[in-house]
Amino acid sequence: MHMHGHYENRDEKAGLTSTDLVGAYHGVQRVAPLQTALERHHPPELSNADRDLLLKWLRSDRVSEDYDNLDLGDAAPAEILARSCLQCHSRRATAGDGIGKTMPLDFYDDVKPLAFSRQINPTPVAVLAASTHAHALALGPLAIVVAALALSTSWPRWFIHAGILLMGLGLFGDLASWWLARFDPAFVWGLILTGAVFNGMTTILLLAIGIDLARPAEKR
Ligand code: HEC
Repeated sequence: MHMHGHYENRDEKAGLTSTDLVGAYHGVQRVAPLQTALERHHPPELSNADRDLLLKWLRSDRVSEDYDNLDLGDAAPAEILARSCLQCHSRRATAGDGIGKTMPLDFYDDVKPLAFSRQINPTPVAVLAASTHAHALALGPLAIVVAALALSTSWPRWFIHAGILLMGLGLFGDLASWWLARFDPAFVWGLILTGAVFNGMTTILLLAIGIDLARPAEKR
C-alpha cells in the first residue's frame, strides 16, 4: 500500500507502473511519440514547413491551447494532422495498414496521450539519504530481532538459517539498490526483487515464530 500510494502518481498512467518506480529512483525522460515520429522523418511525404510547425507546437508549452487554435488558420496542428495524417491515422482510413485502428489521431483525446513529453525527476539525494537513514537503522535491528527469535524456535536449523540468510541479503540488496538505481535503472528491478525477498522472508520467519509459540512444548 505504501509503494502504491507513494509512487503511483509519478507518471500520468493510473496505478503503480514500472515507470513510476524508475522515475522515483532513477528519473525518466520520455519524448512525446508524435515528436519522435516527426523527428525520424515520418511520414516522408510531410512538407518541411508543416513538420517544423508541428515540432514547434509539440516543443511549446501550449500543446492543449494551440491544438485547434482558430487564430492559426491552416497552420493549426489539428488542420495539419487532418491534411497529412488522417488518410492513414483515422478510424475510417483505408491506407496505412490499419494504423488508424491502433493509433487514430482523429480527435484531441487521441492526440493528447501522444503529444506530451514527460520528465520525471528522481527523489532528491538529500531525501533519499534521510530515507536510508530512517529505514536502514530501523530495518537492520528489526531483522536482527526476528533472526534472534527465529533461532530460539525448534524449527529445523537449515530452514531458519536459510531464512535469515535470505532476509539479510534481501535487506542489503534492497538498500543498496536504492542508491545503485541512480546510476542504472536496471537496479529498480533489483530493488523490487530484493525488497520482495526481504519482506517475504521476514513474514515467513514471523509466522514460523508464531506457530512455534503456539505449539505444545516438547518433552525433554
Ligand atoms: C501513409 C500512411 C501514414 C501517414 C500519412 C502517416 N502515418 Fe503515422 N504511421 C503509419 C504507419 C503504417 C505506422 C506504423 C509503422 C511505423 O511506425 O512506421 C505509423 C506510425 C506512427 C506513429 C508511431 C510512432 C513511431 O514512431 O513509430 C506515430 C506517432 C505517427 N505515425 C504519427 C503520424 C503523424 C503525426 C502523421 C502526420 C503528420 C502521420 N503519422 C502520417 C502510417 C502513416
